[in-house]
Amino acid sequence: MTEEITNDSKMVFAYDKNARISIPSYDALFTMIQSYYRAQLGEKEATVLIVGAGGGNEITAWGPTNPKWLFTGVDPSEDMLKIAEHKAVQLNLMSRVTLIHGPIDRLPPADSKFDAASCILVLHFIDDVQEKLKLLGTIKNNLKQGAPFVLVSACGDRDSTELHHQLNVWKSFWLDGGRDWSQVDEMVKKILSTLSFLPEQQIEQLLAEAGFNTITRFYTTGIFSGWICHAE
Ligand SMILES: C[S@@+](CC[C@H](N)C(=O)[O-])C[C@H]1O[C@@H](n2cnc3c(N)ncnc32)[C@H](O)[C@@H]1O
Repeated sequence: MTEEITNDSKMVFAYDKNARISIPSYDALFTMIQSYYRAQLGEKEATVLIVGAGGGNEITAWGPTNPKWLFTGVDPSEDMLKIAEHKAVQLNLMSRVTLIHGPIDRLPPADSKFDAASCILVLHFIDDVQEKLKLLGTIKNNLKQGAPFVLVSACGDRDSTELHHQLNVWKSFWLDGGRDWSQVDEMVKKILSTLSFLPEQQIEQLLAEAGFNTITRFYTTGIFSGWICHAE
C-alpha cells in the first residue's frame, strides 16, 4: 500500500466516523434521497450532479446500487476529492464518475443538463447570503426542467432558543461518541463562529429565488435539515 493511499485511508476513516457521530441518521439520509431520486428518475440512464462531492459518500451510497446513474462531482478541496476518488476506485465506479476540482463555475458547458443534483453539508460553509444564492442558482441552471434537487445544510435562527436546544441535542451525539463536556462546549463555540446558520424560512426563500419549486423539508437531525425541491 503506498503512503498516499494510507494517508487517504486515514482521512476517509476520520471523516466518515465523525460525520456519523455528528449526524447519527447520516446513512439513512442517503437512503432517503436515493429513494426519491429513484421514484423520479425511473429505470432510465440518468446524470447526477454532486456539489461538494468531497468525501465521496454520495457516490458510494448511490453508485453501486444504481448502475445506470452517471455522476459528476465538483468540490474546491483537492484533499476531499482525493477521498472521493479513492472510494470510487475501490468500488470500481470510475467509469461512471467524473470529478472536477474547483468551484461549481468549473463545470464544463454541457450538451445536456443534469437529471438530478445534490448539495449536502456545503451551504453552511458559505458566509455570504448572495454567494449562497449564486451557488443555488448555478445548480438550478445546470438542471433539466423538473429535475429533483436535494439540499442539506445546518439550519437555525442564531437568536432563537430552538437552535440552543438543538445544539444541546447535537452535543449529546458527540458525548455518546466519546467526547467530554469541555470538548463539546468548545465544538459548539467553534461551529457557531464558523458555520453560517440561516433560519429555515430564509433557506426556503433562497431556494425559491434560485428557481426551485415544490420545496419540502424532508429531514432534520440535530442542527442539520434537508429539503427536496425541483428545478422550474
Ligand atoms: C462536510 S463536506 C460534505 C461532503 C459530502 N457532500 C458529504 O455529505 O459527505 C463539505 C464539502 O463541501 C465542499 N465545499 C465547500 N465550499 C464549497 C462550494 N462553494 N462549492 C462546492 N463545494 C464546496 C468542501 O470542500 C467539502 O468537501
